[in-house]
Amino acid sequence: MAVTFPRRALAVCLLALLAGCSTVAGQLSSTFYKKKCSNLESIVLSAMTQAVNNEPRMGASILRLFFHDCFVNGCDGSILLDDNTTFTGEKNAGPNANSVRGYDVVDTIKANVEAACNATVSCADILALAARDGVVLLGGPTWTVKLGRRDATTASQSAANSNLPGPGSSLAQLRTFFANKNLNARDLTALSGAHTIGQARCVNFRSHIYNDANINATFAAQLQQSCPSSGGDDTLAPLDLQTPTAFDNAYYQNLVAQKGLLHSDQELFNGVSQEALVRRYSTGAAAFNADFAGAMVKMGNISPLTGSNGEIRLNCRKGNAEKQRNSLLCSLMQFRVQLKSELNLLLVDLGNLKLNNLDGISWIINSDILELEAGNLSADFEISEILNLKIECTLSENF
Ligand SMILES: *[C@@H]1O[C@H](CO)[C@@H](O)[C@H](O)[C@H]1NC(C)=O
Ligand SMILES: *[C@@H]1O[C@H](CO)[C@@H](O)[C@H](O)[C@H]1NC(C)=O
Ligand SMILES: *[C@@H]1O[C@H](CO)[C@@H](O)[C@H](O)[C@H]1NC(C)=O
Ligand SMILES: *[C@@H]1O[C@H](CO)[C@@H](O)[C@H](O)[C@H]1NC(C)=O
Repeated sequence: MAVTFPRRALAVCLLALLAGCSTVAGQLSSTFYKKKCSNLESIVLSAMTQAVNNEPRMGASILRLFFHDCFVNGCDGSILLDDNTTFTGEKNAGPNANSVRGYDVVDTIKANVEAACNATVSCADILALAARDGVVLLGGPTWTVKLGRRDATTASQSAANSNLPGPGSSLAQLRTFFANKNLNARDLTALSGAHTIGQARCVNFRSHIYNDANINATFAAQLQQSCPSSGGDDTLAPLDLQTPTAFDNAYYQNLVAQKGLLHSDQELFNGVSQEALVRRYSTGAAAFNADFAGAMVKMGNISPLTGSNGEIRLNCRKGNAEKQRNSLLCSLMQFRVQLKSELNLLLVDLGNLKLNNLDGISWIINSDILELEAGNLSADFEISEILNLKIECTLSENF
């Protein structure tokens, strides 16, 4: 394949020669998949539209998933890796366990993307696009997502435990967490506006509604009815009491009225440095939208893996090396189920289907086409009949 080097990139490269030209290699581009997967954005948008229509909260969940990916060693899809017998990833870190949601939505999008352009688009990029689409679908601003991230082959539970701010963080702590990712106080204040959608668990706002002084007493009393001082940890409350599923600037109006749900929210309007900005956003949706979109792009740029670093994971939950070693890990949509006996290729239309293999691993297949090498099956067999057969799952050669 001929490699053409754009003139401008070459010039930058020469200038940056002493620095190893790493700035060029690390750049993301909005046209990265233009030739390789031209329908990518519409595939992601269509799956996100369905997910958000099913459950508006999913827009917030995917946005948070992206945030929790980016803040832990960069936007590299590391949060998506499942734990296994030899590996403990980020999913069960304190800030993620029992609270990060949307992994199945990412799986669905990935399956649809793989069906259109296999082994091409990273899970990290899918997440970046899905997060943007969720915001847009709930009425928020749009922005151009830079692409070209690759996926991590590992993850760090300890980094997830130490790099993410929590609901009890003070303003000073929040500023430090964000500064560690080269995000300034304005980015912090704008990105916190993500809490104009989504919900939080009682365990995460209990202390604020019982112990803090900077909260409207009526608001606190209302919340206390569903979030007792002990028990009911998982009871949910909307982060934005006014418009819980609309991406707007009501979050900032809430802060001005001392009706932020989390301690960390109200810290942004607590007589200190961010008050003026919170007031500005509370009365100016356009200013908030512009700053939020800009800060999302900055967050999406945190330490991407590019070039030959990382990999294009085939299954967002598993590194590719794992897949090759274990022939039962066929959880992507394009795989071959080998049934005993003589083989004819058979194409079968499937909707979303959950299969259980003999070892009890479940496969979620989100595909229009399941490629089967089947023995004597006819095209109109029942799926349950196949499941009753001994299924041996093998990866096709280039997979
Ligand atoms: C607290 O909120 C209630 C109702 O939402 C409102 O009537 C009251 O004025 C607020 N209290 C203060 C001190 O702002
Ligand atoms: C567990 O997952 C990690 C990360 O994907 C991978 O490196 C490792 O090989 C996996 N181990 C097993 C036993 O599958
Ligand atoms: C399956 O098909 C093969 C030929 O394709 C045939 O020889 C065999 O008898 C068939 N088995 C059954 C159970 O129908
Ligand atoms: C990906 O697509 C290429 C080209 O169509 C094909 O040769 C290859 O087998 C596919 N890989 C998988 C895993 O489906």
